[in-house]
Amino acid sequence: MSDRIRPDSVRDAFHALWYDSQCWKETAWFGVPIQKNPFDLLQYQEVIAEQRPEFVIECGALHGGATLYFAHLLDLVGRGRVISIDVRDGWHEAVRRHPRVERLVGDSTSAEVLEIVDRLVPSSSRAFVLLDSDHTEAHVLRELRAYQRFVQVGDYLVVEDTNINGHPVLGDFGPGPYEAVDAFLRETADFVVDDGRERKLHFTFAPHGWLRRVARTPASRPVADLAARSRSMADEIERLNAEIRRLHEAMQAMQSTRGWRALEWIRRLRAAIGGLGGRGGG
Ligand SMILES: C[S@@+](CC[C@H](N)C(=O)[O-])C[C@H]1O[C@@H](n2cnc3c(N)ncnc32)[C@H](O)[C@@H]1O
Repeated sequence: MSDRIRPDSVRDAFHALWYDSQCWKETAWFGVPIQKNPFDLLQYQEVIAEQRPEFVIECGALHGGATLYFAHLLDLVGRGRVISIDVRDGWHEAVRRHPRVERLVGDSTSAEVLEIVDRLVPSSSRAFVLLDSDHTEAHVLRELRAYQRFVQVGDYLVVEDTNINGHPVLGDFGPGPYEAVDAFLRETADFVVDDGRERKLHFTFAPHGWLRRVARTPASRPVADLAARSRSMADEIERLNAEIRRLHEAMQAMQSTRGWRALEWIRRLRAAIGGLGGRGGG
């Protein structure tokens, strides 16, 4: 290594240049905008080729450039599906048409979305998970807690844009993905940061964000499944209660109408006449 070049300063300059130039906004994969660092794309390709996951789960799709990138890689290895999640339905037509792509619209941490992902991904299947949606610490931490269950021992969960909030760019962003990773690693020993994946001169936009599962606490998936199920049952109970309240209000409204009162009056009259007839016949 030359004495004149300090690797850290080159790395920081690269991050700063990439962000300042905004060229990540002008990059496309087969015509679909993709907001990825090319060094990370190369790294992702290595993971797909090595691990041949059955599922790639991507939280935060935007137009789906990365979704299409992964779908094309899975075409090459000949198996797998991409589950692409976003709050907005902004997927490019080419992504919608790709047979390996499953699109889910909604908050990545909502009970509805997680229930569908739970249904799509059998508990023993191998998945590669990427978090690239809302970059606030609270949201990323919720995603980490929820999506870790889809990752098997040896597999990866990548938290993207850990470089923001001063690591080394966008120093005033506030606590974000990097801080969420730290909080998550304080909660579990099942994951470690795999620095080996940052070896390409640290030009990754997921520094400290390449998490690899090294153990699975036995109850983590069943407990997570149970939590998802109880959340969806609570939602169902709430929905039924709302329906009962609505029916009750409709019933009360109906009982206060003139027509209803007239029917009531006829019913009582009939009962009285019937009573008279009964006495007469006896
Ligand atoms: C940085 S962009 C994703 C870029 C994309 N992965 C790519 O490489 O081209 C972030 C996306 O996350 C989505 N998003 C924001 N909050 C979200 C949430 N709570 N759940 C799911 N998606 C969310 C946004 O709508 C936006 O499309």
